[in-house]
Amino acid sequence: MSANLPPGMRDKLSPLIYLSNNWISRIGVFLVTAASVFWLFMLPTYLQGHSGASAYIGILLYLILPTVFFAGLTFIPVGILWKKRQLGPSAGVREVIGLPILSWQNPDFRKFLIFIGLATGANVVIAANLSYRAVEHMDSVQFCGQTCHVVMKPEFNAYQNSPHSKVGCVQCHIGPGASWFVQSKLSGLHQVFAVAFNTYERPIPVPVENLRPARETCEGCHWPDKYGGDKLRVIPHFSDAGEMTQTVLLMRIGGGNIAGSGIHSRHVGQGIKVRYAHTDRARQTIPWVEYSVRDTAKREYFAEKTTPADVSKMQIREMDCVDCHNRPSHNTELPERATDNAMAAGNLVATIPGVRKVALDVLKKDYTSTVQAEAEIPAAVKKALDGKASPADVERTAKGVLAIWQRNIFPEMKITWGTYVNNIGHNDYPGCFRCHDDKHKTQDGAKAISQDCNACHVMLAMEESKPKILKDLGMSDQ
Ligand code: HEC
Ligand code: HEC
Ligand code: HEC
Ligand code: HEC
Ligand code: HEC
Repeated sequence: MSANLPPGMRDKLSPLIYLSNNWISRIGVFLVTAASVFWLFMLPTYLQGHSGASAYIGILLYLILPTVFFAGLTFIPVGILWKKRQLGPSAGVREVIGLPILSWQNPDFRKFLIFIGLATGANVVIAANLSYRAVEHMDSVQFCGQTCHVVMKPEFNAYQNSPHSKVGCVQCHIGPGASWFVQSKLSGLHQVFAVAFNTYERPIPVPVENLRPARETCEGCHWPDKYGGDKLRVIPHFSDAGEMTQTVLLMRIGGGNIAGSGIHSRHVGQGIKVRYAHTDRARQTIPWVEYSVRDTAKREYFAEKTTPADVSKMQIREMDCVDCHNRPSHNTELPERATDNAMAAGNLVATIPGVRKVALDVLKKDYTSTVQAEAEIPAAVKKALDGKASPADVERTAKGVLAIWQRNIFPEMKITWGTYVNNIGHNDYPGCFRCHDDKHKTQDGAKAISQDCNACHVMLAMEESKPKILKDLGMSDQ
């Protein structure tokens, strides 16, 4: 080997090799090879970018491994300097070491090569094993939902209770493709720093601005032409006396077909584009809407007192799935709706007199911490209902009320009732009526975005007890 190196280079290299034969430099070499080998193992999974790779492999690839790599790199010269100093400050390197040659015969060089060889071999074995596990782990819902425990607890709790509880966080938050993957890594890094230095915002602000366009993620599972058809919605309500009524709506969802009518067809159907301007971050105030079919037939709607000049100064967004389904997986509720749903599900025992009011009173109180609520809520419910039902029913109800609170309120993240609005519907939040208020009109005033009740749903029953329609459909055994 020595024979192939030009003498000038050999003269420079050999003292370095000799000097680097010390424990500090060796640790450095080990770290550099370890980081490089790990990196090579992780890279393919990372670049694939589909669900097999995780949001947080990036932390490892972009943050931890480079840190280790560069730390290793600095260890090497530090060790060389240290060794040189040990040998005596006045001695020139050449004199001290007498120019050993870079060849297999040179024991220092030999040791150095053997060490690199062994370190690399060991790293390959370790990395092959660990990186596989790390990838697997970081792709998991547990990692996203629980590693940053306090931060993601609200989303994780709601998610477990959602129709998407078997869909990985990364499938909506990142989705397929390498470029979004890299983009999410970069913002992921920022988030890691925010958590590490405790500078993240509480609550986490919405809408999530760097969320991938929903059509690229949602449509991976919900086929555009197929996610429609009319759908029956049965919504339970309870009176304070504990009597259940039901509202039955036939939702006119419609397909993605341009010829079709219905909710989906008119906003995300083929060739249909709805753009809107909003004046607040949360996109709740919408003074201008544009509807276009294949970019030709355009209609513009203006809220009262809004002019085209005003609109030119506003932020514009193209509507997609998450403008309506903004909480597909993190669905928080208001206390009344949560209580009605829990009563219908039997988590609160509806037959206990006054149970609804007790639950609402307890739920609407302020608790400064989760610990406090977990102690006070069950106790308060039990005290209020004591003697009105069997101890088992009271116990079940107390647990049910606490569960509602735990799913919706997170004092640690400053999340309380209504912090996150839900844009589906119009009863709890403005939702559809942000635009469908009959007051968004074309400039000639001839057409408005309709509030016609039957455009979106056919009302088959309105808070009826034992609605006849459910009996006719065979959906009720009463
Ligand atoms: C079905 C798709 C979907 C899944 C699965 C999903 N999310 Fe989300 N998530 C969203 C959407 C859409 C938003 C945007 C809400 C908005 O912009 O108003 C969001 C918002 C968030 C936010 C911002 C704060 C908030 O509450 O809006 C966090 C944090 C979050 N998700 C974490 C998670 C975690 C952790 C998981 C897995 C346990 C997860 N998400 C799974 C769709 C999803
Ligand atoms: C990895 C697949 C997957 C992705 C990605 C996904 N979903 Fe879903 N979605 C499902 C499954 C599975 C269900 C449950 C179907 C069922 O219960 O019939 C579901 C159910 C739904 C429902 C019906 C909920 C209900 O109460 O019946 C809506 C609405 C929905 N998804 C919207 C979205 C939106 C919006 C996105 C994108 C932000 C999205 N989904 C992304 C798989 C997915
Ligand atoms: C204009 C608002 C709006 C937009 C935009 C929208 N949806 Fe919906 N979607 C609805 C409403 C309203 C329902 C009925 C929900 C209900 O009453 O439970 C619904 C229902 C659904 C369902 C459940 C269907 C079923 O039969 O159970 C899925 C899945 C769904 N949407 C997916 C999507 C996807 C994917 C997109 C984006 C391509 C999208 N939606 C865009 C309003 C919207
Ligand atoms: C950003 C504004 C905006 C929001 C929010 C919005 N829509 Fe629309 N919607 C429109 C526009 C614009 C049209 C088409 C008007 C036209 O035909 O020129 C439309 C049309 C419709 C139609 C067809 C009406 C008809 O008479 O044919 C239905 C149904 C509908 N929307 C349902 C909903 C539902 C349900 C929601 C809430 C989940 C919703 N929309 C939220 C802007 C909006
Ligand atoms: C732009 C579409 C749209 C229009 C117009 C509309 N609704 Fe709705 N409505 C919805 C959606 C979406 C939901 C939510 C369904 C769900 O919870 O999934 C809803 C839910 C409801 C509910 C059930 C509320 C509950 O929780 O019990 C009632 C009642 C209702 N609407 C009445 C009306 C009436 C009355 C009108 C006419 C003034 C009207 N809606 C117009 C879209 C619309």
